[in-house]
Amino acid sequence: MPFPTERPRRLRATKALRRLVSQTRVHPSELVLPMFVKEGLTEPRPVASMPGVVQHTRESLRKAAVEAVEAGVGGIMLFGVPANRDPQGSAGIDPNGILNVAIRDVVSEVGDATVVMSDLCLDEFTSHGHCGVLDADGGVDNDATLDAYAQMALAQAHAGAHLLGLSGMMDGQVGHVRSALDRAGFTQTSILAYAVKYASAFFGPFRDAVESALEGDRRTYQQDPANLRESLREVRLDVAEGADIILVKPALPYLDVVRAVAEQTDVPVAAYQVSGEYAMVEAAAANGWLDRDRVMLETLHSIKRAGAQIILTYWAVDAARMLP
Ligand code: PBG
Repeated sequence: MPFPTERPRRLRATKALRRLVSQTRVHPSELVLPMFVKEGLTEPRPVASMPGVVQHTRESLRKAAVEAVEAGVGGIMLFGVPANRDPQGSAGIDPNGILNVAIRDVVSEVGDATVVMSDLCLDEFTSHGHCGVLDADGGVDNDATLDAYAQMALAQAHAGAHLLGLSGMMDGQVGHVRSALDRAGFTQTSILAYAVKYASAFFGPFRDAVESALEGDRRTYQQDPANLRESLREVRLDVAEGADIILVKPALPYLDVVRAVAEQTDVPVAAYQVSGEYAMVEAAAANGWLDRDRVMLETLHSIKRAGAQIILTYWAVDAARMLP
């Protein structure tokens, strides 16, 4: 039997060799921490299905934002949980609504030391839990929702958000919000477009975190998990409408989509490692079935390797502290 002529194992022999040939590195500056703030809370409240994640008070949010900056994360993404909801989602538009107030708090605390992002969607604010306003038949009214998004965008831009995260999956939302921002003089406020968002069961724990009122599902506006071509179409439209960064969500079950999108577009690509991806690993680790830290870093490297250059993850601070 001849000996092998090719020996890939040679380059795996020492830690230094492995480091030398390592092709993918994740840097803290590429990680974005999603954070929840709830109106009227006096103590931070743990989210049961997301161990380690809390609903913040305004005060604890400020502190946690500073800690995230100190850990070196690239950004924070804010979600608000209002005390009261209505069919129009008015609390999302109100300058004194919890999300807009929290944006001002965080910006006044951290300034430009990190990128402050805000979720731009109605689902946290509507009494029915849908991402838009409803028409007479109870369906989500695309074009009426666009006007609400434009008002939310102005409120968030006013509050000082650097990057608006349009996550509602309405047709034309990027173009509509971009022109509203430009007309109001917010030409420097950027748009992170959730171009690709699947109607995913992996969002389950998030709906606990924001106490979502949704009954039913979002299949008339979020995408069918079976489809890939549709994602390329969504990306093409969002970029044409003015998206500065596009996002794919969820991440790990959709790495083929991340790859396809990254090959198609020349704007930065982000991926959102969602609540269910986080909860699965935390639950298994709590049972001693998985090594949490290693799995965390492995998933982040996988998402980066697939082509995402920015990753939204509830592990952003933990991972940032662990990465070289
Ligand atoms: C919509 C929004 C959702 C998530 C982020 N933005 C929920 C949804 O579409 O149902 C989910 C994030 C996660 O699961 O971590 N505002």
